Amino acid sequence: FELYLDTADIDAIKELDQILNVQGVTTNPSILAKTGEDPLVAVQKIIDYFTPEQKIFMQVVSTDLQGILDEAHFIASLRPKNMCPKIPVSHNGLKAIKQLESEGIQCLATSIYSADAGFMAAHNGAEYLAPYVNRMCNYGGGMQDVCDLVDMLAMQNSKTKVLGASFKNTDQVHALIAAGMQAVTLPVDVAYNMIGHPGVKIAVDEFTANWQKAYGRTTLRA
Ligand code: E4P
Repeated sequence: FELYLDTADIDAIKELDQILNVQGVTTNPSILAKTGEDPLVAVQKIIDYFTPEQKIFMQVVSTDLQGILDEAHFIASLRPKNMCPKIPVSHNGLKAIKQLESEGIQCLATSIYSADAGFMAAHNGAEYLAPYVNRMCNYGGGMQDVCDLVDMLAMQNSKTKVLGASFKNTDQVHALIAAGMQAVTLPVDVAYNMIGHPGVKIAVDEFTANWQKAYGRTTLRA
């Protein structure tokens, strides 16, 4: 299983990377624009902080084929490894994914709104697929379609991994991990909500209070 953070906020990344076993981050043009920084400065901060094994996904902005290819090559060149271009599954995007696969550059196919488009992107050689879970749910039938995509790839013994994106709540994440999704990228608030039950603090406070009452201290040893 792979866990990604759907943010370019370096402070949030540093904090959550300590709390959880984070395999990397996903960004898109909107996420990078939100940092208020030059996009390459924002990405460089993540590169500098991460270990070489942690992956960074950065999306192309151009929509014409040559532009997509140029930007994908540029993104892949930003680090020796684990710098993965994200390409929306437009017709030009699908052409680019196919060509980049033949060059040995592995991509994440993004802006996926149907199991069929995701399956075709996998067939073109995408390493990861990012179905936009909540956006799909807004149109109706989203969860079933994403489950179908996971099943279709499994039935065909595909190596392509589904990296669920656009989550808005923990129920969506929970249901899709239970359905066999291989990876998720979580917005900061959803990541905290996954581990945010108030019962934990109540239990810990109770243990501390009982220990202090019995032994007069809040540590195991005096
Ligand atoms: C992945 O990085 C996607 O671009 C992202 O999860 C989309 O999320 P949104 O639907 O909240 O914009």
